Amino acid sequence: MKEAADILRGGGVVAIPTETVYGLAADATNAEAVRRIFEIKGRPATNPLIVHVADVEGARACVAEWPDEATRLAERFWPGPLTIVLPKAASIVDEVTAGGPTVGVRVPDHPVTLEVIRDLGRGVCAPSANRSEHVSPTTAQHVRDDLGNSVDLILDGGPCRVGIESTVLSLATPVPTALRPGGVSLEALQEVLGEVRVQAGSDKGVAMSPGRQGRHYAPDLHVRSMPHGDPSSLSAVALEEGWNNFVVMPLAHGRVAEAVDRWSGGEAIIIAMPADPKAYACQLYDALREAERLGNSTDTGYLFIELPPATPEWAAVRDRILRATAEADLPR
Ligand code: TXA
Ligand code: MG
Repeated sequence: MKEAADILRGGGVVAIPTETVYGLAADATNAEAVRRIFEIKGRPATNPLIVHVADVEGARACVAEWPDEATRLAERFWPGPLTIVLPKAASIVDEVTAGGPTVGVRVPDHPVTLEVIRDLGRGVCAPSANRSEHVSPTTAQHVRDDLGNSVDLILDGGPCRVGIESTVLSLATPVPTALRPGGVSLEALQEVLGEVRVQAGSDKGVAMSPGRQGRHYAPDLHVRSMPHGDPSSLSAVALEEGWNNFVVMPLAHGRVAEAVDRWSGGEAIIIAMPADPKAYACQLYDALREAERLGNSTDTGYLFIELPPATPEWAAVRDRILRATAEADLPR
């Protein structure tokens, strides 16, 4: 942790554990260091980064104003998987915000990273520590697999507890606006704030935050989602496109899982997913990486993912699946 803080102080780039996914961190006041994050990830410079701080005081140092709503949200959800977007302070460099007037801040719930931030004495900006558009990392090994030796240090804090990214909420809009579903549910936000808008298209795999649309969180395979509880698309697609061998991620014990068990058209490699939303989220990215490994090491370049039901508690997981299965040529 001491070494990590020193590297960050010197303008280096360090992969850090959080409760959501691993981040690729740099000093948020050092433009050159921040530019290296974009280079390492292959990330478009138009997509802003989240600044990670140790407490409310640290968050206030990053923003130009701190409304009452922010205090209430911080009390309820920090440390934790909620990113709050507010007008930025002058000290936050343009590279972090993609030239925009706002900045996203959050207090991650991981003792290792909180210690590093406290030692550094200011916020670190960090996107997820994966190749741009690839599956987000939930273990240190995932980071190593994606980014190799291009980072100065990887801090191993164990597997991520939440497993999908933070909820991004803007308080820089007239009505609070959810930009990305994540570890904190819309219902929980509404309990604290009353009205919360959801940026249109949130459950359809389209843009919710500036700079990103379409395919994201995607394994290097041909991926298709299938409707919840409906195995018919399996044989339809198999017939249509000759996909007889495949990896499939059904919900455990459901109708799709049963149909896959009986599949006789070819080889089906099954990764059964939990029927509980939190447990599912925790395993999703590891399962996608495992599917990728299995798919590429057999003659099976195909992955089917059963969508969970379209109910509020599944919103964040469905968002990630729909983005992972979005066509590569959708507008970005
Ligand atoms: O859980 C997380 O949020 C993880 C961990 C590492 O903290 N980080 C993460 O970062 O997911 P990234 O870069 O993969 O996603 C950040 C999201 C993007 O959708 C980005 O567009 C949005 O947050 N975002 C960041 N700053 C923003 C801003 N000022 N206004 C609107 N959206 C913003
Ligand atoms: Mg990301």
